[in-house]
Formats: sequence, structure tokens, C-alpha cells
Amino acid sequence: MAEFLSRAEEYVDMAEVSTENWNYCMPSTYIPWASNREFVREIKQSGKVKFPLYLVGSIVSPEMAEEIIASGDADGISFSRALIADPAMPNKAKAGRIDEITPCLRCMRCTDGDNKTRFFRCSVNPTTGHETRVGFMEDIPEAKIKKNVLVIGGGPGGVEAAVTAARRGHTVTLLEKNEELGGTIRYAKNDALKPDLKRYLQYIQKLPSLYPNITVKLGTEATPELVGSYKADHIIVATGGEPIPPTFLEGWEKAKDILDAYFHADSVGEEVVIIGGGLSGVEAAAHLGALGKKVTVLEKYTCLADVGTSYGWGVKLAVKQYGVKLVEQADVLEITDEGVRYAMGGKEILKKADSVFYAIGMKSNNQLFYEVADKAPYVDIIGDAAQTARIGEAVVSGFYAAMDIGTF
Ligand SMILES: Cc1cc2nc3c(=O)[nH]c(=O)nc-3n(C[C@H](O)[C@H](O)[C@H](O)COP(=O)(O)O)c2cc1C
Ligand code: SF4
Repeated sequence: MAEFLSRAEEYVDMAEVSTENWNYCMPSTYIPWASNREFVREIKQSGKVKFPLYLVGSIVSPEMAEEIIASGDADGISFSRALIADPAMPNKAKAGRIDEITPCLRCMRCTDGDNKTRFFRCSVNPTTGHETRVGFMEDIPEAKIKKNVLVIGGGPGGVEAAVTAARRGHTVTLLEKNEELGGTIRYAKNDALKPDLKRYLQYIQKLPSLYPNITVKLGTEATPELVGSYKADHIIVATGGEPIPPTFLEGWEKAKDILDAYFHADSVGEEVVIIGGGLSGVEAAAHLGALGKKVTVLEKYTCLADVGTSYGWGVKLAVKQYGVKLVEQADVLEITDEGVRYAMGGKEILKKADSVFYAIGMKSNNQLFYEVADKAPYVDIIGDAAQTARIGEAVVSGFYAAMDIGTF
């Protein structure tokens, strides 16, 4: 080792400190921020390494980087995903435009996509992988013709559409029926385990206020009459989606939708059953597990079948850590006052529960789109309202819908 280090000093200008363990070399949102910090600190404190040591892995903001360097734990910081999420981050930090820095979700869409399909993409940066066509976010061109744009719905897709249209010089009104922006991801403010989504929620809640040509109207339900009164040149409908209730099950009305698990966790009791073992069901189970609940997930087929490999590893770690029980090949028959009755391996089982939630998929809220189709020359539908999916799809569809406004 001593020989290796002395020879390395001849050739090495700096080294990055990371780990071999996948969960820590590219940590998902289930791993603490700056998760390799103690390793770099120990190596530096050993005094055996003379060249500068940089820390890499989940350094999520310039403030965090500055604090680590100031503490003496590392000589420098390397960013990877923070710069995929926002390549302009260093320039924005230098200019003091901190609220404009798009935070990385540590959702692994970039790596899961890169490894599986060789198509590089990012959930929060719609220009990633499309730079040759649209340039970087900072380069998007002003619109040829400035329009009066109405965006209905302030979730990730609606905010992306509103902000992109505003960046291109349009005048934008953003209507949101709730008293705050965020749409479906408003649950993140109560999520016990996903600090990055919470940061992103705070970011999109503030972002429109930084643009003087966006007017945000909270607590405003869009009716066809109201929408018509804006006389918009272009309408973007981003009314999101909602959980599908399991109406095919006896007693389904005794269960609550999965988002309720985040908003009313205090009243769920001790024993919880979640019907549906896709990502949203299992992540909610881990969240409730972290709050001390005993959670069982009943899945008809295989749990987490809709999750990319590397993000899935992080979720499975949380499932293990918080004692969540995943039951696969469970055919749910009925929700009773006592719990959930299901069939498995030729037997019928009653799983007792204080609360039952369903997470069997989402459906689009698209009714308004048809009702306002004649209220402007151009009416688009984006995000979950068009097709339920993840944040990445909502952001991409919002961005490109806004990029098309004012080109003719
Ligand atoms: C899409 C993607 C591809 C990567 N490819 C490599 C690679 O080929 N070799 C490597 O050593 N690290 C690779 N990494 C890991 C990063 O260099 C970095 O160590 C890791 O993402 C943790 O840093 P971060 O939290 O700042 O993203 C990749 C990361 C991403 C997001
Ligand atoms: S895809 Fe997800 S993890 Fe990758 S850079 Fe974008 S936000 Fe971060």
C-alpha cells in the first residue's frame, strides 16, 4: 500500500472517494446525503495520502459542497447527477440564483435508462439527451410570436409548461385548484423517506414566482366558463391523475387511496395493509414502516415489477430496514371490517388491519380537456392528464408543449 501511494503521488493530481457498494456509489433517495463523507474524512485524517481528495456521491447542493470543504473533510467535491439535473447549477450558484437550481431527485432514471435502453434521460431536466436538438435549458430560444398562455394544473408538468412558456417570453396564467402548487407530489412534504422529492416540491412551488410574466392563481377551480374568460391563445391542460379505486372488490369503500397514507398517517392505527405492490404501494409501505406501523403489502403478481433495477435496490433496502412484509401471488377477495381476505396457494387468509389502502394504479383526470377544447385556438393536454406515468414524463410533456407555443 505504501509503495502504491508513493507511486500514485507521481502520477495523480487528485482522486475521488466513493465506494464499491452500488447503493453507496450511486446512492438513491433512500441513502443519506453525502453518504461517503466519513470515508474521505478517514482517509484524509490518516495523513497517508498527499494528493487532493474529492468526495463524490449525493452531494445535492452547492451549500452542502461548501460546508463539506469548509469542514476539512474533503479537498473538493465532484458532482454527477446534480449536474445532469441542472447543468447550469455552478453558474446559478455563482450568481446567487439558488432558488432556480433544479434539484436531482436521486430517482435513478438516468442510470436505469442509460443501462437498459442506452437512452439517456432525466426526470427533472427535459433537455437531457436532447441537447443537440434543443440545446441546454439556459439556451432555449425566445418565441417568435408572444402569446397569452393559460396552464391549468400546477403539478410538475403544469409548472414546467408555465415556466418554459414564461422563459420564452409568453404571458402565462397558471390556475391551481389547491391552495398550493405541487399536484400529486404534494404528498412528498409528509414522506418520511424521500428528502429529494421534498426539495423538488419546494422548488416547483417557488419557481413560478420568480417569473414576473407568470400569474399564479391558487385555490382556483378551472370551469369551462372561467377558462373561456381568459381568452387565451393557447391552453395547456395539466389536471393530473388520481388513484383508481378497486371497485371490483367487495367492501372496497372501506379502503383509502394510497396518497391518504401521507396526509393522515396519524389515524391509520398500528396494522396496515396495502393492496398493490407496485412502486407507489411499496414506497408508501416503507414510509408507514418508518413511522413505526406494521405494514403488509398484498400483490397479485410480483412486487416492484414497475421499478428500474438501481432504484429498486434502494426501495428494497428501505423495505428490509422498516420490516415491511411483501406478499406476492396474493389474490385479494374482500375488504372486511377486520381486514383483508385473500387467496394464496389454494388457501384463504384473513390479514387483520386497522387500515387498508389501495395502490392499484392511477387514472387520468382529463374531463376538463374535452370541456375546454373550443376555448382557444390551441389546446394541449399533458402529464398524467394525458397518460398517467412518472414525474419525468410529466416534465418532458410540459416542456415540449410549451416549446411549441409561438412558433407560428
Ligand atoms: C448516468 C450515469 C452514468 C455513470 N457512469 C459511470 C461510469 O461509467 N463510471 C463510473 O465510474 N461512474 C459512473 N457514474 C457514477 C458517477 O460518476 C458518480 O460517482 C455517482 O453518480 C455518484 O455521484 P452523484 O451522487 O453526484 O451522482 C455514472 C453516473 C450516472 C448518473
Ligand atoms: S434522472 Fe433522477 S437521479 Fe438522474 S439526474 Fe435526473 S433527477 Fe437525478
